[in-house]
Amino acid sequence: MERTLSIIKPDGVKKNVIGEVIKRFEEKGLRIAALKMVKMSKDDAKGFYIVHKERPFYESLTSFMSEGPVVVMVIEGENAISRVREIMGATNPKDAAPGTIRADFASDIEHNIVHGSDSKESASYEIPYFFSALEIK
Ligand code: CMP
Repeated sequence: MERTLSIIKPDGVKKNVIGEVIKRFEEKGLRIAALKMVKMSKDDAKGFYIVHKERPFYESLTSFMSEGPVVVMVIEGENAISRVREIMGATNPKDAAPGTIRADFASDIEHNIVHGSDSKESASYEIPYFFSALEIK
């Protein structure tokens, strides 16, 4: 069993696709082990995306991620990290396979509806960023 962190970003919440995104994970046999809606401050978003701090898009990404509420969740299952990434599709919706969340709903590389941890190492930073052990069931 593996756990990963996924976020329905402010654009996904605004587009009313929270249920649709969760459904796509659940119907592939993944389990939601924790879930909540939060509004990050700019500093919260900066801390979350600290690995990208040298990237040219860091400022705009962290402004976008703190502009409205997001839904954060822990998803559990066999190979959950790679399976969630497959269901999401490529970071840039232009490259995302048909039928993936980003191909269906994302507008551009930054406003791409959903986030998923990209490795075990990222998941072990990202999950406790939002959830205590008691909140994951
Ligand atoms: P995410 O999976 O949340 O991980 C980092 C995020 O940075 C990514 O999705 C995109 O939203 C954003 N991102 C990655 N590359 C770029 C880019 N070239 N320009 C703007 N935003 C980017």
